[in-house]
Parts: sequence; C-alpha cells; structure tokens
Amino acid sequence: MFPETRLRRLRQRRLQPLFRESELRATDLVAPLFIDETLREPLPISSMPGQSRIPLHGIAAVASRLYDAGIRAVILFGIPEKKDPSASSAFDADGVTQNAVRLIRSAVPGMVIMTDVCACEYTDHGHCGIITEERDGPDLDNDSSLTLMAKIAVSHAEAGADCVAPSCMLDGQVKTIRAALDEKNFQKTPILSYSTKFSSALYGPFREAADSCYSCGDRTTYQMDPANAREAFRESKLDSEEGADILMVKPAGLYLDILKEIRTLGLPVAAYQVSGEYAMIKSAAMNGWIDEKNVVLESLICIKRAGADLIITYFAEDAARWLHEK
Ligand code: PBG
Ligand code: ZN
Repeated sequence: MFPETRLRRLRQRRLQPLFRESELRATDLVAPLFIDETLREPLPISSMPGQSRIPLHGIAAVASRLYDAGIRAVILFGIPEKKDPSASSAFDADGVTQNAVRLIRSAVPGMVIMTDVCACEYTDHGHCGIITEERDGPDLDNDSSLTLMAKIAVSHAEAGADCVAPSCMLDGQVKTIRAALDEKNFQKTPILSYSTKFSSALYGPFREAADSCYSCGDRTTYQMDPANAREAFRESKLDSEEGADILMVKPAGLYLDILKEIRTLGLPVAAYQVSGEYAMIKSAAMNGWIDEKNVVLESLICIKRAGADLIITYFAEDAARWLHEK
C-alpha cells in the first residue's frame, strides 16, 4: 500500500481537536494600557486603530471591561503632564502610573497589574533614562539610569503593582531593582524583565501612543541588533542569573527562533506582540485583505507554540472574546 504513513488519519474533523498540541487561553494574554494624565476624553491613537490613550478617570471602566472579557492582566504605560531631563514625574507617588495602579486595584481587585518601568515617557528628550553627551552623540548613561529605574520600580510597588517590568535594556537592571525592592520589603513583587529587547522598527506606532518619540539619536546603543541570536540568549541568561522571575522577548512574531531558545533557560517567558505587529495586521484587515480574527488567532497560537507563557498584545480584549465564542 502506498503511502505507508497516513498523517491525514488523525486530521479527520472529529479527531483533530484531540491532537492539538498548543492552546491559547484568555489568561495567557496581557493587555497594554496607555494612561494620559492630561486628557479629559479618550484620545484615539491614529497609527493603532481601535486603541486609545485613556484619561485617569476612565481607567477603572476600561479595566472592568477587560476583566469581563476574561483578561486577567494588564501592563500600564503612563503619560505624565510634566516631562524633564531626569524623569522626575516617573517616581512621583502621585504620578500617573501610580494613580492608575490604585484606581484599577480598587475597581477590579482580581486584576494582575504590571507596570512598565522606563523613563522614555517621562523625559523631555524621550530617551529611556539619563542622557550623557558622548563623542559620537547622546547616549544613555547606564549607572545613573539604574538608580532612576530602582526608584521608579519601588514607587510602582508602593502604589500596589503586582509585578514590575523594566524595559530599558540597561546592564544590571534586574539586580539593581531586585535589591531596591527587597530593601523596601517588596520581596514578593516579581520582576518581568524585558530581557531580550531588539532595536526594532516595529515600535513606531507605540511612540505616538506613549508620546515617547526621541528628539535626538536612536536606541541602538541599548536595544539589541535584530541580527544577533547568541547575544539575545546571553541577555536573557544574565537577567535570569540576576533574579528575574519572568523573561521577555520583544517583538514577538519575527523573533520566534529567539523565543524558542530562551525558553530553555527554564523561566516563564513572555512575548510582546508590539505596536507595529498590531498595525500591520489591523491595516490589512481594515482594507479587507486578510481576515482579522483568523490572522490574529493564528499569530497568537504561533507565539504560544514557539514557547511563550504570556503574550502581551493589543489584541488581548478581542482575542479573549473570540476565544470565548469558539
Ligand atoms: C519603552 C517601551 C517601548 C515599547 C514598550 N516599552 C518603546 C521603545 O522601546 O521604543 C514598545 C511597545 C510597542 O511597540 O508596542 N521602553
Ligand atoms: Zn523606554
């Protein structure tokens, strides 16, 4: 008989579901939220149709809506009224992110609240930390920026964040933040490190969303070269040795080889499906060129198959609803 192997035997419609190797659940998804202290009304983000910056007074309602859709975790990005070179509003106990944490906590006690720990939304120059002038242009000063990140992380924990997520790609960020949290008795607050973050052109729409367009230079001296896989592994390995609780690969879809490797470190791994990945799918769908629901669910199941435990995605709410319908 030819052929001897018939893989199609188990692909018969009724049998298929029994042999599905990966599964996507609403609890795998983390919804990013942009909270803007200067707004009275939500402000649609033009490069990310369907997403808006939310005013502080609207954040509780958005969090409840997400919870009702089945989402159990959010990651917060605050946009402050005042920006300065040292990002002082980023660690203000009365700052936008700290207030948003408290509002969500009291409205939706069951929601896991993660906070992005970085300075680019809070600096007037738009870089992720403290800048020094080097011979070949401005650069992020590693060690003074570490002190800043520790302050930001502690202020988020004090406001009640469940998990802090340093995203600035400084050397030593996990070790420094862990020590600062422990010293203030936040031994139980986990660190989700943006451990392997590439210098990607796919962050473009986010910079409109978070108002963090840098005015000079670029981020290639701290974020990673997309060409480098061995370095990507070292970055996450180091963060795991420094005490990270969860690692991250960002962006997601173009970096599944990296995700698969980093998973071998044994820690939970998050993947960030970034703003440009959202915009590409959304714009094609809005033109009627692809089917949004099917492409989104495919993109997410493939990220899970490659090894992600968590997926941060702007499609979180829609995907949770689609999963519920199935
Ligand atoms: C800030 C930060 C960025 C993103 C998450 N945190 C932008 C950047 O590094 O330039 C990108 C998220 C996205 O594109 O959706 N450090
Ligand atoms: Zn940043």
